[in-house]
Amino acid sequence: MLQPKIAELINDQVNKELYSAYLYLDFANYYEDAGLPGFAHWYEVQAQEERDHALAMRRYLIDCGHRVTFAAVDAPDKAYADMAAPLQAGLEHERYVTSLITAIYSEAFAQKDFRTMQFLDWFVKEQGEEEKNAEDLVKKMKLFGGDPKGLYLLDQELAARVYSPSTPDASAQA
Ligand code: FEO
Repeated sequence: MLQPKIAELINDQVNKELYSAYLYLDFANYYEDAGLPGFAHWYEVQAQEERDHALAMRRYLIDCGHRVTFAAVDAPDKAYADMAAPLQAGLEHERYVTSLITAIYSEAFAQKDFRTMQFLDWFVKEQGEEEKNAEDLVKKMKLFGGDPKGLYLLDQELAARVYSPSTPDASAQA
């Protein structure tokens, strides 16, 4: 069994990961409407990864003998001023998620819950990658997004993203 506080934090994080999926699908909706299907596709894949994260945490709680409960997922409520805005919002969101994972890790560390720390190690690494991806997108948009041809080529590049399951188990098998 996990300490109640740790179980509660991970249960909350399941909701936050599902919100991340919802937020990224909202970005995808925006880009579909803006005529950038490659950007939309990139965020559809990102949303799938977020759902994977939620399911991995749900499974961890179940495997530790906890009953998982679901709260309502907030509606994404952002208005995007221009085509770069979702990218910047995505970067800020990933930094926020990193702070949430860090808070759970800190609690696990304080309680000497080595099993949870080991489970979260994968997420710590994953957050590093997700922040880097989000930073790269912001940079590329700054460099190439102002030019129609550059924007078209960037859209093509993002359209090529391939989904592969984003979970600790999948990484262990890779
Ligand atoms: Fe599940 Fe983008 O962190």
